[in-house]
Amino acid sequence: MPLLSSLFDAPSRWTALDPVAARAKDVADRLLPGGSVRALLHGRPAGHPAHPALAQLPIGTSVSALLLDAVATVTPGGAALEAPARGLAAVSVAAVAPTALAGWADYVDLHPDQQRTAIVHAAGNALAAALWTASLFSRRHGRLLRTAGTSVAGAAGALGGHLAYRWAAGPNHAEHLVHLAGDGKEFSDLGPLDDLPEGRPALRRIGDAPLCVLRRGGQVLALTDTCTHLGAALHEGEVKGTGAATTITCPWHGSEFRFADGDVLDGPATAPQPTVETKVADGRVLARVVGPPL
Ligand code: FES
Repeated sequence: MPLLSSLFDAPSRWTALDPVAARAKDVADRLLPGGSVRALLHGRPAGHPAHPALAQLPIGTSVSALLLDAVATVTPGGAALEAPARGLAAVSVAAVAPTALAGWADYVDLHPDQQRTAIVHAAGNALAAALWTASLFSRRHGRLLRTAGTSVAGAAGALGGHLAYRWAAGPNHAEHLVHLAGDGKEFSDLGPLDDLPEGRPALRRIGDAPLCVLRRGGQVLALTDTCTHLGAALHEGEVKGTGAATTITCPWHGSEFRFADGDVLDGPATAPQPTVETKVADGRVLARVVGPPL
């Protein structure tokens, strides 16, 4: 395995972090507000995770300060760049709190191996923030402290990227289902209507794509089955509501999706569930995955 990947994979196995990880989850559950504030921290109103978007600001300002410091080092009269570099460091410090809060909200629902990596990622960023803060108060070592902070933040940020891409914390876990289910032009036969249990979600498939299918009398509702948040099976969840307002709540972390359009109404998911069009013909259920709601 590539050395860098091995290095970044290591924290996921550090079980000694588990007490800290559990404590961080407990504190988040108690302190972070729920409802619309929690939804905002996850990024649900934007349909995009908030944490990686917010992280752009401290990354951008700290790297900009680093470049100013580099120019100041090799330019006569570079001392004039100290004030703007210090201002950028101050913006980095100010951006840490909202970025960390959004990350903390996402952290709560991660799997234990992901949480261990997230703890190391957060510790690195906390150290970076401390170094940036110290740089604001140091007349002699400001540049050194900013450089150290940005270096640590770079490593912590790379670990965060590894957590997202290698360990799948944050991406949409259902996007591939659209492709597994074919081109969505043709309806597929899901079997006799009478084989579906009344009022209880059931698992059916189009090709390799699992579907969560709900029969209500002669009507059939369906969504793709793999939760966009972290991949739980939605057909094991709870059905609420009636008609166009019928929803399914994910059994793992409570994301609630509307059958009609796949929209996320509650929970940590930010991506809507790819939708499925159904019809009943000659007593058989036909379905096609329409795609991600746009
Ligand atoms: S897997 Fe987390 S809400 Fe569905």
